[in-house]
Amino acid sequence: MAKTVHIKSYGCQMNVYDAQRMGDVLAPLGYNTADDMIGSDLVILNTCHIREKAAEKVYSELGRLRLEKEQRAVSGRPMVIAVGGCVAQAEGEEILRRAPFVDMVFGPQTYHRLGLMLREHEKTGRAVVDTEFPPEDKFDALPTAGKIDGSAAFLTVQEGCDKFCTFCVVPYTRGAEFSRPVDPVLREAKLLVGKGAREITLLGQNVNAYHGETVDGEWSLGRLIRGLADIDGLDRIRYTTSYPAEVDEDLISAHRDVPELMPFLHLPVQAGSDRILKAMNRRHTSGDFKEVVERLRAAQPDLALSSDFIVGFPGETDADFDATMDLVREVGFVQAYSFKYSPRPGTPAADMEGQVPEDVKSERLRILQDELNAQQIAFNQSCVGRGMPVLFDRPGSRPRQLVGRSPYMQAVHAELPSSHLGDIVTVTIDRAKPNSLSAHAETPKREAVA
Ligand code: 5AD
Ligand code: SF4
Repeated sequence: MAKTVHIKSYGCQMNVYDAQRMGDVLAPLGYNTADDMIGSDLVILNTCHIREKAAEKVYSELGRLRLEKEQRAVSGRPMVIAVGGCVAQAEGEEILRRAPFVDMVFGPQTYHRLGLMLREHEKTGRAVVDTEFPPEDKFDALPTAGKIDGSAAFLTVQEGCDKFCTFCVVPYTRGAEFSRPVDPVLREAKLLVGKGAREITLLGQNVNAYHGETVDGEWSLGRLIRGLADIDGLDRIRYTTSYPAEVDEDLISAHRDVPELMPFLHLPVQAGSDRILKAMNRRHTSGDFKEVVERLRAAQPDLALSSDFIVGFPGETDADFDATMDLVREVGFVQAYSFKYSPRPGTPAADMEGQVPEDVKSERLRILQDELNAQQIAFNQSCVGRGMPVLFDRPGSRPRQLVGRSPYMQAVHAELPSSHLGDIVTVTIDRAKPNSLSAHAETPKREAVA
């Protein structure tokens, strides 16, 4: 009999991609994906360990799931609870200690073995923990991409990180840098396009560290983007997340030469003070970051930038924080993510002197976010009256409304018939809100290229 699985992802887009691939692994085993956690036979929490709050959310969700599992047990319908992703990788058995009703714990590198884990759990009735970094390649073991959700798809090309920023758990949870070879990446991209994807976002913790093997040498990310742009029907390419010190000339020139490469880039800087950047073990100064941005903007003057910021890193003084604010004002961002520093056990910064008090972090975050929000609103306002191609990939909440993404990743709402789902339509922006734009199309007509 068909069973249902609900996969809830936290954190980054890599987890969204992994969740889709888990669905692909489970489909041949008779599992249909369900939107609702309640009533599902298998619930997977695909977790994020990046900040303390993200990890704690998992335990509160598990508390709720426990009640559901107990109720289902009374009515004779078992429910399997699995914890995957980076919390599972980092905490392993500890999860079973804190939440003994959990049935399976597996890391981001082992989900291709979900079928084996389920079988073992069924056979023994005991909890299964699989958080190895297996030598075999997960990507080779995964089935070819299954159904896609909308016309904008994700494709993981690189995983892991060797940068060891002193605040970050990623090198410990996702392991060393690994690039998928070029051929399977191109094959997966063609498959996604065949299933209706018109936009692909290339994913990697350090995506611009990509160096994929081919029979005659390695391809950089820039080269890969050019290769992907040749695929018929693939109109838009994006990539995330990038490391500033590894933006090379090949990538910069792709921004100049490849029209499919969208003029939007998420490039985390973290801080503006060189002293703090050094303590973070970032391999760039604020000057290096500005220089990279300048070169990118010379190649693509229309480039819109996004970034990540951390306030209250250990030892951050008012002057250091002012340097972050100066950088934000100087560079200008159309959107950004900003966080209070959150000590992560096992990372060097967690044991550094000069931990910043919570109230100081909160105040700095407020000041930074006020500026970033103002910049975002100003950018959105500057779009009013402009025409821009939007890939409409979701129905809106109102009838006859579709939602899509502008080239700059803004959410755009427009009144359009549902027959335009999956189309790139040039619309005129009418109104700007802090987090979205509304637009109209004169006479909606399909366009081949963004
Ligand atoms: N505390 C706060 N923010 C963090 N990030 C990563 N680790 C931490 C931490 N310990 C942020 C960084 C990174 C983003 C994904 O999360 O800004 O770029
Ligand atoms: Fe974490 Fe730094 Fe690697 Fe990004 S570059 S994943 S912040 S260690």
